[in-house]
Amino acid sequence: MTKRVLSGIQPTGRPHWGNYFGAIRQYIELQEENDGYYFVANLHALTTVRDRDLLAQYTWEAAIDLLALGLDPDQAVLFVQSDVPEVSELYWVLASGTPMGLMERCVAFKDKVSKGLGASLGLFTYPVLQAADILAYDSHLVPVGEDQVQHIEVCRDIAGSFNHQFGEVFVLPEARVLSSSARVPGTNGDKMSKSYDNTIEIFEEPKPMRKQVMRIQTDSRPLEEPKDPDTDHLYQLCQLFLGPEDIEELAALYRRGGFGYGEIKKKLADAADAFWQPARDRRTELLAHPDEVRDILAAGALKARLKASEVLERAQAATGISDPRRTAVQRGMLTNP
Ligand code: ADP
Ligand code: TRP
Repeated sequence: MTKRVLSGIQPTGRPHWGNYFGAIRQYIELQEENDGYYFVANLHALTTVRDRDLLAQYTWEAAIDLLALGLDPDQAVLFVQSDVPEVSELYWVLASGTPMGLMERCVAFKDKVSKGLGASLGLFTYPVLQAADILAYDSHLVPVGEDQVQHIEVCRDIAGSFNHQFGEVFVLPEARVLSSSARVPGTNGDKMSKSYDNTIEIFEEPKPMRKQVMRIQTDSRPLEEPKDPDTDHLYQLCQLFLGPEDIEELAALYRRGGFGYGEIKKKLADAADAFWQPARDRRTELLAHPDEVRDILAAGALKARLKASEVLERAQAATGISDPRRTAVQRGMLTNP
């Protein structure tokens, strides 16, 4: 049986190298052998992005970026979270049975609040909406970074106790933790992250991207001193883009010493340029053809809604919210007015 793989990406900013190698590339690879469902989590982003134009723009661009980076709408379903209202309905069904204590144990909420985000109810119950995202499509596998594993556990808890109370309604999903070896360093050597202001954006124009690469911080040891490539973040960044032969040569150069970081940065900029160019071209194409993007998202939302409405109906029937004496007739009126 092909497995349903589902993942959501929050549209909270422009994607950087770390997002691609740590997450997006791995999601996209899973489309090959699975039934992939990928969505832009704009409802989740609403807990942090409180600017209409920005949220709309990030959402639109996130869909385009995923397509440009290789998400294939013939292989996987791509949609925007809010285009499937069934998920928000399911959220309530789940929230009604979710113990407060389960939410209170979630570290992401405390983390965000300690970084200065306003503690909204939406932010607090964020994991319940995430559970609805996952359960609405009978998902089997959820690829996520380490930081999201707790939310998948919460989803399993919620689904398990619902099933226990109301019968087998939900499929229990499993987390697929993305490879942590793909942790990408930023320009100052710390983990690349929007919050640390050390990112290099994927779709930056070649010239500014080159400038950012040239600004990668390096140490001030003398040129001729031999260096250990494995502890050097510039070398780690080169590993993302250079082929095996070039990277071996570079490692040898580090161990020998007698080189300047400037020449390595040039090499990195050239390799990164060549690597991103096809995606940049596809993105330019897509930006120029909004109708195509709109049609892909509409087809994706339709497929997603068909599945989600089936699951929602199961949950509503199991809880007594839907009742054939009322709801079947009303549903029929909506589909055949
Ligand atoms: P940021 O830290 O820039 O705000 P997000 O938290 O939005 O990034 O991350 C989105 C996804 O990208 C997550 O799944 C996360 O694991 C992955 N990711 C982010 N930064 C890196 C990085 N430097 N290396 C590897 N993966 C990363
Ligand atoms: N919370 C996830 C993140 O911040 C995004 C997300 C929302 C998600 N819903 C999901 C991921 C469902 C996996 C499954 O990265």
